[in-house]
This record gives sequence, structure tokens and C-alpha cells, in this order.
Amino acid sequence: MIIIKEGRVIDPKSGTDTVTDLAIDHGKIVKLGPNLAKEAQASPHCPGYRLIHARGLVVAPGLIDVHVHFRDPGLTYKEDIQTGAKAAAKGGFTTVVCMANTKPPVDNVDTLEYVLAEGRKTGIHVLSAAAVTIGMKGEALTDMERLKAHGAVGFTDDGIPLKDAALAKRAMEEAFRLHVPISLHEEDPAFIINNGINQGAISRQLDIGGSPALAEDSMVARDCMLALHTKAAVNIQHISSANSVQMVGLAKKLGANIWAEATPHHFSLDECAVAQHGTLAKMNPPLRTAKDREAIIRGLEENIIDLIATDHAPHSAEEKSLPLAQAPSGIIGLETALALAITNLVKPGRLSLPQLIKKMSLNPARLYHLEKGTLSPGADADLVLFDPEESWTVGTFASKSSNSPFIGKPLQGKVKYTICSGKIIYQDC
Ligand code: DOR
Ligand code: ZN
Repeated sequence: MIIIKEGRVIDPKSGTDTVTDLAIDHGKIVKLGPNLAKEAQASPHCPGYRLIHARGLVVAPGLIDVHVHFRDPGLTYKEDIQTGAKAAAKGGFTTVVCMANTKPPVDNVDTLEYVLAEGRKTGIHVLSAAAVTIGMKGEALTDMERLKAHGAVGFTDDGIPLKDAALAKRAMEEAFRLHVPISLHEEDPAFIINNGINQGAISRQLDIGGSPALAEDSMVARDCMLALHTKAAVNIQHISSANSVQMVGLAKKLGANIWAEATPHHFSLDECAVAQHGTLAKMNPPLRTAKDREAIIRGLEENIIDLIATDHAPHSAEEKSLPLAQAPSGIIGLETALALAITNLVKPGRLSLPQLIKKMSLNPARLYHLEKGTLSPGADADLVLFDPEESWTVGTFASKSSNSPFIGKPLQGKVKYTICSGKIIYQDC
């Protein structure tokens, strides 16, 4: 049994935001209320009893990241499922959804079962999406029904777009029939000269062709309408442009079951970071203008953007030391996500802590139909305890990779404990 004493318990599902105790037993939340520690101590001998003093800490449902790349199988020099899970736990995440762009991709049952089996050896819940198309080639749909039957929680060709509109429509129809979300990486290569860098002032300074907002906007426009017509649960991944946010807002108004995620880097940085951090600020879709960044924050405030997801994309130091145009896109994100959100959204008064937790736990659970994201008695004991005031400087990582533009940056908000299925899987010493 674990008693968490006098924490600020925030549960967006029940609307709870109060200082109280919380009791965990046999992997479940059993009780909330005052003086639970006294009750537990008075009760007969209780093996494994642990008291956590949580005064000053927020006690929230474990964070859920619907967008991670654990690179396993095939690219484990960047990350593997064990190290990815450790990075997740350190960041306060108890559930993650792995993307399918491994080597080979998760377009077949064997690879899917490998990922899920390795995931079960970690302390967190490692779920996996499967690819929409065979080999992620954008030509033929995978056997989505069979992949779902073997544990795929959703479908995505993340990393690349579905260029063929008719195929995208069929994939959405199948996702709707199977009652699973389909997540889309929205960048039309027809308009991209170099990916990872916004086409604009900075790309011109650096004499790089870049990737214009049009590449995203044109695909988001198409997929908003496909979502509306197919009724599928469509998740626009790592939204990066102001126009895309507006379009998702319109599609929601029209009645589409459309969702959007924003990454911590897209709400924390703009294209100027490329001049400062080079390849560590290169990602797909790219960091765009200050106006786009502001539109993303407004989209989060107005609930057009439902989710915060990291797009945790580890790459080796060697790969990231290549010239800007050749280095791979992507940065790690699991260990800095909560602090970036507290520093850049909560402290400036753009989101409240309950609103933030909703976007990092309850809404991801809803999109994937997971019975998670809440602290009600009976729920799985997946929790994060964090100090929203503590300042720290980004330094070392549990991830195998350290491709982050936030190294050396002071942030506010520190994860103190991560508890998954009733077990303490991370503790800040
Ligand atoms: O920057 C990115 N990197 N964006 C993606 O969508 C994929 C990811 C990766 O796999 O490295
Ligand atoms: Zn992506």
C-alpha cells in the first residue's frame, strides 16, 4: 500500500483540484480523502507500506504520450524500448504509443508483437500504433483488422504523409469501422525543398530551400474534409502552422471527429531556434514563425488542439553533427515535456494546471479509448507527482540520445515520482 499525503490532487475527469491524501493498493487507486495515513497506520500490519509526503506537489494521472519513436526494432543505437521507457518514466509518463517507423516498420503482426512483448518488460505501458500502408510506401493498406486484433491501438505512417487522397479515405473508412484513431503526418513533399527548416526568413539567411507552411496547410485542408466525410477519428499530428489550427477549428465546428496534437517544441520555440541550435532545432514539420507559435498556444487555450504529444525522436550525436541539410529531423522530448509546458504555458497564464493535465493525460486516453487519465477510486494507479515550482536546468537524459535544443535551459516544474500500476518506477533523488 502507498499513501500519498497532502498533495494537490488534480483529476480533470472528476473536476477534483484539492489538497488531500490518496491511497493505492494492489495496483489501483482505492481512496481519496483526509487523514488516510493515520487510518493506514492504525490498520493491521501492511506489507510494502509506503508513505509519500506530497505537500507542495501536484498529484495527477500519469501522463500519456501518443507520439513516441523508440526505434526498436532496427535502430536501437538511437533508443530501445527499455531506454525509451526509462525516459518516459523520468518525464512522468506511464503510457506511450510507439510510432510504426521502425526497421522493419510495424506493418506486420510479428514486429507488432515484438514491440508489445518488449514493452511488457518495462515499468510503463508501451502501446503501439501500426502502419497504415505496407512498408510505409503509401501504396497498399496493411491488414488493419488483423493488426488491431493483435494489439495495435491505432494506425499511422508517421514520418511521412499519405499522399494518395483516395487511399487516405479508404484508410479512414477502415479506421472508423475498427473504432480506432488514425494519425496523420501532414507535409506534402511536392512543396518541400529541404525538410526540417521552415521556408522563410531563417531558411533564406542560411540559403536553404526549406519547407513552407503550405506543405502542411494543403494536406490538413484535405484531411479535415476526409475526416468529416468518413467520420473517422483523425488525429492531426504535431500541428505547426496557424492556418492548420484554424482549419482544424473549422472542421470541429462542422462536426468532424478530428483531434490535433501540439509538441512542446512547437509551442516553445520558433524558426529562430535554427540559427541558434542548428540541427538540434531541425524537425518535421519544422518550427515556424512567432505568429504560428502564438496560434498554436491559442489553439491549445481554445481547445482546438486537444493533446500535447512529444514526437520523442532520438537520433545519435554523429547523425545530428551532419550539415543542416543532411542531418535527420527530430528531437527527444519525453524528459522535458512537462517542464516546458509548465514554463511556457502554465506560468504565463495561458493554461491552468488542470487544463494542462487534461491535454497530457485525459484527452490522450479518450482518443485511444483507454480507461486511464483519471484518479477516481478503482482506476489503475498510474500517477505522476511533480513540483510545479521547482526550477532545474536541463542536463543529462535517461534516453540513449541527447538531441535536444533545451540542454542548459532553466525550466520550472520537476517530476518527483512516477507511479505505474501501483509501483514507484521513478523517483527524483
Ligand atoms: O522530426 C521528426 N522526426 N518528425 C517525424 O515525424 C518523424 C521523426 C523521426 O522518426 O525521426
Ligand atoms: Zn511525425
